[in-house]
Amino acid sequence: MQLFLDTPDTALIQELAETGLVDGVTTNPSLIAKSGRPILEVIAEICDLVEGPVSAEVAATQATGMLAEGRKLAAIAPNVVVKVPLTRDGLIATNEFAREGIQTNVTLCFSAAQALLAAKAGATYVSPFIGRLDDHGADGMGLIAEIRAIYDNYDFDTEILAASIRNPAHVTAAALAGADCATLPPAVFNDLFKHPLTEKGLEQFMGDWAKTGQSIL
Ligand code: G3P
Repeated sequence: MQLFLDTPDTALIQELAETGLVDGVTTNPSLIAKSGRPILEVIAEICDLVEGPVSAEVAATQATGMLAEGRKLAAIAPNVVVKVPLTRDGLIATNEFAREGIQTNVTLCFSAAQALLAAKAGATYVSPFIGRLDDHGADGMGLIAEIRAIYDNYDFDTEILAASIRNPAHVTAAALAGADCATLPPAVFNDLFKHPLTEKGLEQFMGDWAKTGQSIL
């Protein structure tokens, strides 16, 4: 499973990429707004930090505007993935981007029917929003499983990118349900390393080791 960071924070991306476990980055208009930085500059910087896919979202709502913005974003670096909303216009743009060889991430997916259309449009990635569905009293993880089954039934190449992830349990469940990738807020990425028994066990091992008076080096 590929793990992406859902953030435009370049300092954090650089720090976490040092683990060798970050496969890519996703952003959205809300995250860019929060960063207070110009989108073209941030995306270019992120593309210098990670070799994997970097999702940059269009702001237009009509297909023609999405195509113009997407082409501009895609020209920033070869690893830019143009993120478009799962709307009728978004899928028209996705279809054209596929013809032009521009990678896409179709976002704001909340149903299996929407995901089916995204795959038919030739999306590189589809982003079902797990956390927001759960917040709404729906079954976010069930959606991942449904999309997996549909994509496997028809051999669609579109990758399932579990988004709106809130905690490590979401990551585990998405992996079990067959998501190809998950995009995580940096805090959730850091939480993946942790388990109280790991900390307790390490403390015990280090205590016992100190008693031996030995040194490996
Ligand atoms: O970037 C898309 C998605 O991950 C947003 O998550 O937490 O705003 O629902 P959230």
